[in-house]
Amino acid sequence: MKLLEGKLAVVTGAARGIGEAIATKFAEQGADVCFTYVSDSSRERATALEEKLRRYGVRGKAYQTNAADFLACEKLVNDIVAEFGKIDICVNNAGISKDNLLLRMTPEQWDEVMEVNLKSVFNMTKQVIRPMMKAKAGSIINMSSVIGEMGNAGQSSYAASKAGIIGFTKSIAKELGSRNIRSNAIAPGFVETDMTSYLKDGNAGEKYLADIPLGKFASPEDIANAALFLACPLSDYITGQVLSVCGGLNI
Ligand code: NAI
Repeated sequence: MKLLEGKLAVVTGAARGIGEAIATKFAEQGADVCFTYVSDSSRERATALEEKLRRYGVRGKAYQTNAADFLACEKLVNDIVAEFGKIDICVNNAGISKDNLLLRMTPEQWDEVMEVNLKSVFNMTKQVIRPMMKAKAGSIINMSSVIGEMGNAGQSSYAASKAGIIGFTKSIAKELGSRNIRSNAIAPGFVETDMTSYLKDGNAGEKYLADIPLGKFASPEDIANAALFLACPLSDYITGQVLSVCGGLNI
């Protein structure tokens, strides 16, 4: 028996990286997966992912949707519910970083990170809880970061957005627990994706590795395994939690 048989999951920002790994893992475990990408340049990868998901015998569908746009998210969720009838799992994964020291950070840089990383979580969650309330069940998984817990020089906007996600996640868990809707966050450490391509630069990579007890960076699949756990019945009694997947970086 697959862990997500018959479930419908939506994953934002899934044309590559962690989102792609989560979409793939969920399909492997029997879920139909709707996922978003934002830019025209990602369309080819999104189409390739649709095909990959379908090879697991599930439905996979890509939507070009800016997660930072409230009305676009409303339309996305309405379209998914119209076609698939429900949403069981929502993974708010879309995210960016615009790193800069505070002295140099512009208001535009700050706003962009907040809109894509934090407002997107509000945008999607506000919409998906309607079908979840109707079904009296749901799992919402928000992608935070170890940086949201620890802070990092040059990443004040990113850290603030990821810390904001944790407060949001816990509040929603309290609001919706009685409806059997669970809300949890994942706080990855350093994961080898396009976002962290600087880790491949020997010096920077070595410096971070020295602080990770497990002595290696995470793969996107490490994060997808945590998302699978929080999405499936194995975590039925877990809500309002932050699951750190960071190789011990935060201890
Ligand atoms: P990535 O840069 O490879 O992927 C991010 C995805 O989000 C891309 O597909 C991008 O197109 C999409 N995206 C960006 N803006 C969007 C928007 N407005 N609407 C919809 N989609 C949008 O990054 P990665 O590493 O896969 O990150 C995924 C999530 O994990 C992000 O929220 C990131 O902050 C978080 N994370 C990543 C870590 C890492 O070390 N790579 C560590 C901790 C958290």
